[in-house]
Amino acid sequence: MLNQTEGGRRAAPHASTCLTLLLLLSASLFSAAAWATETAEAAKPFRVCADPNNLPFSNRQQEGFENKIAEVLARGLGQAVAYTWWPQRRGFLRSTLNAGKCDVVMGLPADIDMVLTTQPYYRSIYAFVYPADAPYDLSSFDDPLLKELKVGVHLIGDDYTNSPPAHALSKRGIVDNVVGYSVFGNYADPNPPGKIIEAVANREIDAAIVWGPIGGYFAQQQATSLRVVPVASQDESPSLLLAYDIALGVRKSDEALKNTLNGLLTRHAKEIQQILVDYGVPGITLQPTEPHDPQPGTAVPDTQLPQASNGQPTESRGEAGQEVTNGLVKLNPYTGNPEAINEGEELYKLLNCYSCHGLHGGGGMGPDLTDEEWKEGTGDDTRVMDQVMTGRNKMPGYDGVITEEEAWKVIAYVRTLYKGDPSTIEW
Ligand code: HEC
Repeated sequence: MLNQTEGGRRAAPHASTCLTLLLLLSASLFSAAAWATETAEAAKPFRVCADPNNLPFSNRQQEGFENKIAEVLARGLGQAVAYTWWPQRRGFLRSTLNAGKCDVVMGLPADIDMVLTTQPYYRSIYAFVYPADAPYDLSSFDDPLLKELKVGVHLIGDDYTNSPPAHALSKRGIVDNVVGYSVFGNYADPNPPGKIIEAVANREIDAAIVWGPIGGYFAQQQATSLRVVPVASQDESPSLLLAYDIALGVRKSDEALKNTLNGLLTRHAKEIQQILVDYGVPGITLQPTEPHDPQPGTAVPDTQLPQASNGQPTESRGEAGQEVTNGLVKLNPYTGNPEAINEGEELYKLLNCYSCHGLHGGGGMGPDLTDEEWKEGTGDDTRVMDQVMTGRNKMPGYDGVITEEEAWKVIAYVRTLYKGDPSTIEW
């Protein structure tokens, strides 16, 4: 699922819009009205405010993936969805959710602070969109070709409050050849954010850099075959620039509703995941799609296996009956290493581990990672490494997506989630 990076198959929804919203909202002041928290009764509708003209996220015909996800959640509550339609412009949240016209807004950046947000239910990333027959490959903001090509980006307003890709380009001095498209476009036309992708298909511009869900979805609608390639991780930080967690928003006073929604998101994670896959919402990859040579030092020969950072003699582990290689159990070099654990946490989110195992490892469609029960074997490092790289049953393997080193880091993070009996720790 992570690997689906190009080929115009993935549609990414709300990113540019919700980011737009984020930017707009952070500029506007409002006071959150304290609305009495209502208890969810089956008779009540599941009240959602949404944009009536904003595919692939939502439209009045309820064809967007956020419409589908809202249905899943409402069904989980035994309710029907009731929409209040409102264009996602400046003042959207103030005029809708915070004015009591609805109780839920779908598809908001998880860290938006004008409302209370649930746990994220997906994460996507910005992507390059360009003709499949173009004589170039693009995946990085540092590609020197970007100085020569005509590149389209979404702009948020007349004041040039720029979208993240516009920002990333101007930071690199790439300005003159950049063409801005209003993310709002002409609202009389269907789905304004799709215009930039039409411009790529019509070869008015050489490439666009857009929020993945938009790129993927609209690329599929064009007669010309387009590639959709997620922006590769760059200099900025390993914390994966231009990738955003997307959550549901409720009023700040609606803690109870937030908790209910979190439960629903966890319980219906599989269904939600399937909707996102059906709309081609891009998963995240850490690397460009071409297979890369393993970085030197990542494939650790058995004879040089790292020692356990906890200094435990490896013999005793061997005695515990685990897989032994050259007299050593293969141990995680990053166990207990705070820096690596932080990186591991980023990876856990980036790789969508959380969508199956829960944001804090409590489980969902995948098993609980905080307890002492393991589906297979004892849960020792070698076994868990194998689980992550090779996958098993419904869990995808990440070999070729992440390096072994990255896998060890995410495992080191997973270990910190453990809440079971300490005496059963095998790592
Ligand atoms: C598509 C859903 C899905 C995703 C994404 C996913 N997993 Fe899993 N994971 C599962 C399932 C299902 C199992 C149980 C598989 C089995 O029967 O062995 C599992 C098992 C595991 C186990 C063993 C747990 C046990 O109790 O045996 C670990 C550890 C694990 N996953 C870690 C990860 C990490 C780390 C990531 C991200 C790099 C990840 N998973 C991504 C679904 C997923």
